Amino acid sequence: MIDPFGRSISYLRVSVTDRCDFRCIYCMSEHMTFLPKNEVLSLEELDRLCTAFIHKGVRKLRLTGGEPLVRRDVMTLFNSIGRHIKTGALEELTLTTNGSQLARHADALFNAGVRRINVSVDTLDAAKFEKITRWGKLPQVLDGIRAAKEAGLKVKINTVALNHINNDEFDHLIEWCGSEGFDLTFIETMPMGDIDGDRTQDYLPLSQVRAQLAQKWTMKDSDHRTGGPARYVTVEETGGRVGFITPLTHNFCESCNRVRLTCTGTLFMCLGQNDAADLRAPLRAHPNDDAPLLAAIDEAIGRKPKGHDFIIDRRHSGPAVPRHMSVTGG
Ligand code: 5AD
Ligand code: SF4
Repeated sequence: MIDPFGRSISYLRVSVTDRCDFRCIYCMSEHMTFLPKNEVLSLEELDRLCTAFIHKGVRKLRLTGGEPLVRRDVMTLFNSIGRHIKTGALEELTLTTNGSQLARHADALFNAGVRRINVSVDTLDAAKFEKITRWGKLPQVLDGIRAAKEAGLKVKINTVALNHINNDEFDHLIEWCGSEGFDLTFIETMPMGDIDGDRTQDYLPLSQVRAQLAQKWTMKDSDHRTGGPARYVTVEETGGRVGFITPLTHNFCESCNRVRLTCTGTLFMCLGQNDAADLRAPLRAHPNDDAPLLAAIDEAIGRKPKGHDFIIDRRHSGPAVPRHMSVTGG
C-alpha cells in the first residue's frame, strides 16, 4: 500500500476496545461515555479485517485500546492473528498495555507469537501513580511487568512527560529501566479528546526534557528504530536506550508508515486528523467476499493526509481532534 505522498503503509494499529480500567488524567475524563457494545466488531470480524490488511502488505500489527487486555476473550484474537506470524506473512505482533492484566496473560501472549510489548508507566511512586491513573495500582502493574519479563517478552516502558507531575522522576525511571533491561520512551501529551483539566498546564516539551537529562546522563544518538516515530539515544551510564516521541516539538509525519483501526471498524489514516473510512459496512455487507473490503482499504490509503497539526499553547488548549487516544490507540 503506497499513499499519495509515496509512503509505504506496512503498520496497522488496532484498538480492540475503547474501554479501560484506568482513567489517566491526560487521556480521559473520569466519567467517560464509551462506544455502545453493539457497535463494536466481534473478535472474528476484527480478525478478518486484520487478515485483509496483512494481505495488503501490513508487516507489523499492534493491538491497543483503551486497554486491550480488558476485552473479553482477547487472547482468541492474539492466537488467530498469531497464525500469520507462524506463516511469516506478518513480521511482528505487538501490544500496548497499561499492565494491569499482564500477570495473567503474559505466557499466553508469548505463545501467541508476541515478542515485544509496550507498557505505560508514568511514575514509580505508588501514590502518584494513583493520582495520574485515578484507578490504577502500581504494584499490580509491576507484577505484570515482572511476569512479562519472565515469560520472555521484551518490555518497553512508555512515559508521558507531564510538567509539575512526573518531571522529577525521569532520572529514577532511567535508572530502573536501565537495571531491568527495558527500553524507555518519553511521549509528549497530544491534544486528543476532552479531559477534565487543561493540557497546557501539564504539557512539557521533550526538547526541555532532553536538555534536563543531558545534565546528568551521557546520551549518544542511536540509529535504533522500531518502526515507530521514536528517536533514540543510548545512555552510557546504564547502557539502556531512551526514546523521544515528539509529535508537537518535532513533527515526524514525513516518515509515517501506519494507519489506525478502531474497534468499530473505522479506519483513521492519521492520528491527528478527523478524516476516516468506514470498513465495517463492506465487511458486513459481504461476509464471504473480501473484494469490496480490499477496495475500501485502497480508497482510504489513497486519501491519507500529509500530516497532523497538533499545537498546544495558551491559545490552543482544546483538543485538536474530538476523539480520545483510547479510540484509535496510542
Ligand atoms: N497524549 C499522549 N499520550 C497519550 N497516551 C494516552 N493519551 C495520550 C495523550 N493525549 C499514551 C498512554 C500510552 C500510549 C498508548 O499513549 O500513556 O502510553
Ligand atoms: Fe487507559 Fe492508557 Fe488512557 Fe491510561 S492512557 S486511561 S491506561 S487508555
